Amino acid sequence: MDFHATKPMDIRAALKDGIAQLRAAQVASHTLAAELLLLHVVGRERAWLYAHPEELLSSVQEDALRALLARRAAGEPLQHLTGHQEFWGLDFEVNRHVLIPRPETEHVIEVALDRLALREVRAGRPQNTDGSGLMIADVGTGSGCIAIALAKELPKATIFATDISEAALAVGQRNAARHGVESRVLFGAGHLLDVVSDALSAAPSAAPNVVRQFHLVVSNPPYIGRRESATLQREVRDHEPEAALYGGEEGYELYGDLIAQASARLVPGGILVLELGYNSLPAVQPLLTDPAWVQVNVTNDLAGIPRVIAAERT
Ligand SMILES: C[S@@+](CC[C@H](N)C(=O)[O-])C[C@H]1O[C@@H](n2cnc3c(N)ncnc32)[C@H](O)[C@@H]1O
Repeated sequence: MDFHATKPMDIRAALKDGIAQLRAAQVASHTLAAELLLLHVVGRERAWLYAHPEELLSSVQEDALRALLARRAAGEPLQHLTGHQEFWGLDFEVNRHVLIPRPETEHVIEVALDRLALREVRAGRPQNTDGSGLMIADVGTGSGCIAIALAKELPKATIFATDISEAALAVGQRNAARHGVESRVLFGAGHLLDVVSDALSAAPSAAPNVVRQFHLVVSNPPYIGRRESATLQREVRDHEPEAALYGGEEGYELYGDLIAQASARLVPGGILVLELGYNSLPAVQPLLTDPAWVQVNVTNDLAGIPRVIAAERT
């Protein structure tokens, strides 16, 4: 007599059912999502999936997969279910306390690295490719993706990573440890760069030039307008942290204070690199004018949207 209510499911059937369920729920990229959830549950790589279609799932795996598919169908982001997102070729832990790193934010890293190299060339110095002596600030670090990518690219630089959210900083700290850069990425909680003044006044010997000590300030601040919230995908609106999304009613409200703080903190010739929302440029560009700022440049993302603005402090 067979006591099993149903036959164990094999990989092929699990994938087929998962795709059908997510398609019916109108989940974007439903095939990829079903594949990734199945891989997460069985703890395997993609190549294994198609090489072992007859492999049976255990009942525990089947239950886990069913639960994850239901959550994805109900709108939870895939990355919250797997706990991971890749950024700049590195694997980051993510959860509901941090923004899921977006591919367009990689332009912030590209522009920052390009600008640092240019700065050295213009100053007639040999290029500083390891970041020796560089002090960098990442404002609104979230998962730490920008700070950590820069720390990996510039193995001798020191990076201050700030965030208003303690819960986000805890994720950033774990990611820094995961990538072995925890001794060079220093995390602090507070509004924009306020925490840097607090930290430095507590340990003045750490940086004698307290007022203008950064060579680079980078930020991907919250830039969506609250008035646009109804237009956001449910994955974003209902699951990503409000503090990471909204910059104010219009969206661009934080840039003024951020640029003023960066202006006070950057060394002469220091570089500011900011990510922009799809409609932020007209509000932000007028804040970066001569005599405080020169070499202002805008970089479009792959969709042709002005995505990054960079400037040099005089
Ligand atoms: C758009 S997310 C960017 C996260 C991460 N840097 C990235 O690029 O994926 C903005 C981050 O800024 C933080 N934040 C919001 N307001 C802030 C403020 N006033 N001061 C510092 N951080 C703030 C949020 O908690 C969030 O982690």
